[in-house]
Amino acid sequence: MGEVEAAFIQAPEHRPDLSIIAEAQGIPVIDLSPIHQHFENDTVSDQSAIEGVVKEVRRACKEWGFFQVTNHGVPLNLRQRVEDVSRKFFSQSLEEKKKVARDHTSLSGYYDSEHTKNVRDWKEGLDFLAKEPTLVPISADDDDDRTTQWFNRYPQNPPELRGTVLEYIDEMEKLAFKLLELIALSLGLESRRFHGYYLKDQSSFIRFNHYPACPSPHLALGVGRHKDPGALTILAQDEVEGLEVRRKSDQEWIRVKPAPQALIINVGEVVQVWSNDEYESAEHRVIVNCEKERFSIPFFFNPAHYTIVEPLKELINEQNPSKYRPYNFGKYLVKRKESNSQKQNVENLLISHFRLL
Ligand code: OGA
Ligand code: NI
Repeated sequence: MGEVEAAFIQAPEHRPDLSIIAEAQGIPVIDLSPIHQHFENDTVSDQSAIEGVVKEVRRACKEWGFFQVTNHGVPLNLRQRVEDVSRKFFSQSLEEKKKVARDHTSLSGYYDSEHTKNVRDWKEGLDFLAKEPTLVPISADDDDDRTTQWFNRYPQNPPELRGTVLEYIDEMEKLAFKLLELIALSLGLESRRFHGYYLKDQSSFIRFNHYPACPSPHLALGVGRHKDPGALTILAQDEVEGLEVRRKSDQEWIRVKPAPQALIINVGEVVQVWSNDEYESAEHRVIVNCEKERFSIPFFFNPAHYTIVEPLKELINEQNPSKYRPYNFGKYLVKRKESNSQKQNVENLLISHFRLL
């Protein structure tokens, strides 16, 4: 991409103030090694042994909505390979990449902001669904029950991409279920409380992001401020900084310093609602860099599209009544996508719109 065209220029209130570079000293790093011995048949067996981890997860979710994990069990070599295929894919010509262009028949595929209408993000991306096919609603209309199936669009090159992505998705899913158990325990719930929302179907997906170097990083953003809509996100970022998190205590934007082997976890809007705001999802955004390109790979762990998301019965009572109206997760995603692709003056659909007064 060349000069920053008008289309990428963020409205003044959204432009990054590049002089604020607070490092994320405060973002908790949680060592997950205690959990591995205590998962049997993929579920927590000895809860006392992981009490410390559960406490740390609780504190991180309450104070930040973000944390990093080490000793997470995802093989380093696999992470390296998935980063390699992502770089190889993006290094090809636009023509080659567009052979797997995303269209209305599936979320999977390639897109770049320059050629996608109404997207202001300074980046290109390639998405893959974790489950194939993934069931999704056809329309945002609440009265329309029809669904359709989405399939993955795998590029021919690099040839090892498909196998690597499939392996990586497997590992992401394993880790995501463990994190979901830790989150459930940290809310005082039974460890597998959330599993039912994923068992039969899920709408999780993995995204390769490439943020090219940008000539005017003070005008543009790699990704504008947002909360992730799903339950949780597992992000692999490279050594180039860029991710910023809104600190809950003072609303300051804080840079998440890359830690080479760590994965970054953030709770999404679904956990915010399930927990009735106990764990509020944190806003985050991506700053671009004028010299260095940056790559990242988030895995979005999303429940089945037909999940009705609402505060859990166990967590609400007379003193702490439900703060949200129930909503249909798949419909919410479709509506959000439609609203986000409108002109910038139109307010995006946000989870706060489902808040009860
Ligand atoms: C996202 C996101 C962060 C990053 O894609 O939702 O927040 O570092 N990405 O790429
Ligand atoms: Ni995000």
